[in-house]
Amino acid sequence: MEVVVQKDADSAVNLTARLIAARLDAKPDLVLGLATGRTMERVYDRLVALGRSFKRVRSFNLDEYVGLAPEDPQSYRSYMRQHLFDRVDIDPENVRLPEADRPDLKEVARRYEADINAAGGIDLQLLGIGETGHIGFNEPLSALMSRTRDKTLTQSTRQQNAAMFGGDPDRVPPRAMTMGVGTILDAIEVLLLATGEHKAAIVAKAIEGPITSMVTASALQLHPNCKVVLDEAAASRLQGRDYYDWVFQNEPDWDEFR
Ligand code: F6R
Repeated sequence: MEVVVQKDADSAVNLTARLIAARLDAKPDLVLGLATGRTMERVYDRLVALGRSFKRVRSFNLDEYVGLAPEDPQSYRSYMRQHLFDRVDIDPENVRLPEADRPDLKEVARRYEADINAAGGIDLQLLGIGETGHIGFNEPLSALMSRTRDKTLTQSTRQQNAAMFGGDPDRVPPRAMTMGVGTILDAIEVLLLATGEHKAAIVAKAIEGPITSMVTASALQLHPNCKVVLDEAAASRLQGRDYYDWVFQNEPDWDEFR
C-alpha cells in the first residue's frame, strides 16, 4: 500500500483524477471500477475537466440500492449519469451497475461477477471509505473473501447517506447490492480517496490497524497495488506519516504526479 497525503481536499481530488487520466492514456479500453458518494463527485468533476475519451472504457460500479429502479433519481445509476456518464463519451452499453431492482438478486450477483470476468477483470478500482470502514457497501463483518451480493446497511451508513434522501435516514433503502471485498481485491490496481477530519479515525484504522472484517477497508493491506490518497485532515491520525511522505518523494512511479 502507498499512502499519499496532499495539502488539501482539492489537491487530493486533483491527484486522484490525474491518476485515473494517466491510466486511461495508457489503456484507452480500461476496465474501470467506479464508486459513488460525496467524495467522488469532485473527482468526476475534475476528470471531466481533464477531457479524456471514455469511448472504449468499460465500467462496473461498486454498488446499488436494492429496490431502486435505474431511473429513480436516488439510484446510483442516476448519480453516475449526473456526475460522469452524461458528461463524457462513454458508451451506455459499456456501463454496468448491479441491477438491484430485479427479483432474483442471487442471479444478478452471479451475472455481475461473470460480466466482470468476461471483461477481463477490473484494471483500476476507485474507492471511497465510509465511516464504518466500509469499501463498497461491505459493512463490518463482511467476509474478506466475499463476492457480489446483497447486504444490509448499518444505521450509521444510512445516516451518512441521508442527504440524498431528503435528510431522512429512514428513507435510505436498508439493503444494497455490492461487490464483495474479494471482488475488490481482485482488481489489478486499487485507488482509495478520503478527505476530511471526519474520516481521520477510520482511515488510521484501515491503513495502520489490524486486518479485520470489522473494518473491511483494512483488507486493502493485502492488495499488491493499492494507493490511498488523503488530504491533511483525513491523514491527521496516521502514525507513519513521515515515511509515507518520504516514499512519495522518492518513488519513481510518482514522478509525473508530484
Ligand atoms: C459508494 C461506496 C461507498 C462510499 C463511502 C464514502 O459507491 O461504495 O463505499 O465510497 O460511503 O462515501 P462519501 O464519499 O459520501 O463519504
